[in-house]
Amino acid sequence: AQVKEAEFIKSSSKETECPTEGFPEIALVGRSNVGKSSLINAMVQRKELAQTSKKPGKTQLINHFLINKKWYLVDLPGYGFAKAPTAIRTDWNEFTKDYFLNRKTLVTVLLLVDACIPPQQIDLDCVDWLGRNKIPVTIVFTKCDRKKKKKNGGRNPEENIQDFLEKLKAFFDDTPPWIMTSSTTGQGRDELMRHLAQLRLF
Ligand code: GTP
Ligand code: MG
Repeated sequence: AQVKEAEFIKSSSKETECPTEGFPEIALVGRSNVGKSSLINAMVQRKELAQTSKKPGKTQLINHFLINKKWYLVDLPGYGFAKAPTAIRTDWNEFTKDYFLNRKTLVTVLLLVDACIPPQQIDLDCVDWLGRNKIPVTIVFTKCDRKKKKKNGGRNPEENIQDFLEKLKAFFDDTPPWIMTSSTTGQGRDELMRHLAQLRLF
């Protein structure tokens, strides 16, 4: 699963404005600041293809990146950004739900979950919603390079991941595929690309 070419195509504010060539696509979702844009850069091995930021709420539109002229990686705004104005928060629901329900070329969703913190209700709600709407999902745990910290409850990524997978059993008979990653060290990058390749995207 080599990325020879990665090209930004466009930003869209709603599903009906998204590219229409019909290439298959993979969308990344997750809480603001979980590392969606960073993961895209790690996947394509380019530092600044997708814009990242320390401040949550950086990505505000649906961004299409064309890979090897054959398939799209789609960067979406994060959810659960408490400081965003209410208007923006409701907007997330409006336009991303519309995107998920209507985008025919969507092959699978990568749901990014921060491995540094205990399971968050908002992430479980998102998995639940995707599952109920029959949208295939792969769980991608991010920031697995970070060691346990007091402020994160003194737990390792592995402990948070086990807890999260345990909680998922309430929503799925079979645990969805999941992968541990770090955009900083490149952990999980090849495994993730192999996983996408076997979905016959490319
Ligand atoms: P929004 O666009 O605001 O929804 O955020 P995002 O999910 O796109 O997050 P982004 O990629 O901008 O990363 C947020 C912050 O987390 C940045 O400061 C990144 O450097 C950091 N970060 C992302 N991935 C990793 C990782 O794997 N390890 C570590 N240690 N930090 C990471
Ligand atoms: Mg982003």
